[in-house]
Parts: sequence; C-alpha cells; structure tokens
Amino acid sequence: EKGGWPSFMKKEISEEPEAVANTLRGRVHEGAVTLHELDGVAEVLQGVNRVIVLGCGTAAYAGMVGKYAVEKWARVPVDVELSHEFRYRDPVLDERTLVVSVSQSGETMDTLMAVRYAREQGARTLSICNTQGATIPRESDAVLYTHAGPEVAVASTKAFVAQVTALYLLGLHLAGLRGTLDAAGIAHQMAELEAVPAKIQSVVETASGRIAELAHWMSDTQSVLFLGRHVGFPVALEGALKLKELAYIHAEGFAAGELKHGPIALIEPGQIVFVVVPSPRDPSSLHKKVVSNIQEIRARGARVIAIAELGDVAVVPFADEVIRIPLAAPFFEPLLAVVPLHIFGMELATAKGLDVDQPRNLAKSVTVE
Ligand code: M6R
Repeated sequence: EKGGWPSFMKKEISEEPEAVANTLRGRVHEGAVTLHELDGVAEVLQGVNRVIVLGCGTAAYAGMVGKYAVEKWARVPVDVELSHEFRYRDPVLDERTLVVSVSQSGETMDTLMAVRYAREQGARTLSICNTQGATIPRESDAVLYTHAGPEVAVASTKAFVAQVTALYLLGLHLAGLRGTLDAAGIAHQMAELEAVPAKIQSVVETASGRIAELAHWMSDTQSVLFLGRHVGFPVALEGALKLKELAYIHAEGFAAGELKHGPIALIEPGQIVFVVVPSPRDPSSLHKKVVSNIQEIRARGARVIAIAELGDVAVVPFADEVIRIPLAAPFFEPLLAVVPLHIFGMELATAKGLDVDQPRNLAKSVTVE
C-alpha cells in the first residue's frame, strides 16, 4: 500500500536508505562479510577465474557499477552483458566462469533464458534477486537476496541501490576467499558501506525540494544528457533511462571521456546536461577531467546541473546548479549520486502530469523475450 504517499515511486525512493541497510543486515560481523547462503558454493567461488554479470535495464546498470568494485577488490575479470545479447553470440564459458544474474523480479525472461543457457554450457550461476522463490533464483546454483522490499512502481529505484549493495558484498566476499584483500581492508570497505544508508537519507532530505523546482521549470524540455565517469558512468545511464521511461523525454547517458569522440556535437545553447562529478579527493585525475568537460560543454551553451560532493568548490564557477551529495569513498558515490536522478525522473514526469508508477507501454516484469 502507498500509505499516504502520492505514488509508489516516491515511497520507494524514500525507502532507498533502508533498502541498503536491509540488504546489509545480518551479513556483516565485526567488519567481516558473512554470506552463509553462499557456503555451499565456497569451493566454486574460490576457483572462479572469471565473472559475467547479466541483467537488463536498471539491473544491468547495477551490474556495471558492481564490475568496477568486484574487479578492484577481488582481482577477477568481470564482464557485464545484457541478458538478451548474451546467448546469441556463442560466449566462451566453463565451470570456472561465475555467471551472476541481477534481477529485481527474478522473472525477467531474457535473464532467465541467459541463466539457463549459462548452466547448460557448464558455467556456475549465482542469482542476485529481490523476490523470494522467483524462477531465476530457483534455477541458479546459489542466491543472494536483496532485501529492498516489494517494488511496485515500474521504474526501479530502491532495487537498484540494493543490487549494487549485494554486488559489493559479493565482491568483498570473493576478495576474502581469494585473499586479495586482508581483514582490515574488508572491514574498511564494509564500514564505508554501512555508512551509506544515512548518507542516502540526507540526499533525499536535502535535494528533493530543489530538484522538484528544477523539474518544474524543465517540463517542456525535449532532450537531456547525462555524463559520468568510472562508477559515475552507469549512474548517468540510469539517470537517462529513468527520464525516458517516466517522462518520455529523449535522454542519453555518456561516459564523459567519450564526449569529444562524438556526443559533444549535440551540445547547443540551452541543452541540459547532468554531470555526475567524481570526488576531488580521489587520487585519480578524474575530477579535474570531468570539470574540464563541464567547461567545454558550458562554453558551447549547455546548462549544467552538477551532482558533486559537499565542499567541491571547483565545479561552482562552471555549473548552473550544483546538487550536493555527502562525502564517500569513490565506490560508494553511485549509491548517493543516483538518488537525485531518481527524484528528477519522478518529478519531471509529475510536472508533466504523467503516471509515475505506470508509464505507458511498460510492464514491471518483462516475462516475454
Ligand atoms: O526485474 P528485473 O530487475 O529483471 O527487471 C529488469 C528491467 O526490466 C528493469 O530494471 C527495467 O529496466 C526498469 N523499468 C527500469 O526502471
């Protein structure tokens, strides 16, 4: 039930903090990751030499975020593939390949068929799923449930942050099994992850009002672009998907580094561009590079809405608007930066008078191929 909320989507965005907290609950003990549901496949996980993450839509974007962290922590190669492309290209699989499917419903036919195919080819399968007893987890060797609670709105929001959280738990678990992170290293990442729910809560509280205003004055907009880098890249894709499906606005997400390879030609005066800005505290030079992307598009007349960490003053002179997120280590920024984009999609659809819970032409669970 909506319980007084104007839409399921608004309720579900407000539940993003607890979706992360509930997915962590009972799985962290004194800084260590305990995933008893994976005990039966411990040997398999130890022997894995490759991970393939499968999903569609938002679930695939969660997989893309997860790839960066799992590779970094567990030092195992990770590929992410759209489920519906996977089995039509004769992929190379064997018993040392772990196929991780990500699905909120656990009933998405494209993903189910891809998992079946992977099993037939001898790969090991692990399902990250939000629905107890659904078909995909039943047909997988192991399951790691997300505990986001039932998601009713067609557009996925709280399931996304829970999926990223589950992938991070899996990454840290693999890192422990493979010895690529020591106990202190795992405890450090877990502490960062456990701090995420309160930070998401503060984003929901501080950003919602301003984003609703922005969405209101943008309600006639024809096209919105989203830029991000590293883990911010899938966040940009997710922001664009929400806008397409909810507000029926043409939207595209790009890796910011790709701009000069083509998309910058789209920039004309008045073009709205959301930019997910990496932390200036990150030792890589990504923050500087993204700020210079902002300068480039601004010089061509773009209106820039930056999603940037609190205290990042470098973006201020170049952005038309800055939406702030709390400080977090780089891998945890997507869990914060995605929230304003979820709110934006919902508010823009609302400003256009559309049904945010049930967009046209879409079903919550896509059970046909
Ligand atoms: O139930 P699933 O997670 O397998 O669904 C996958 C996609 O169909 C789903 O994420 C879809 O892209 C959403 N409508 C996005 O908001």
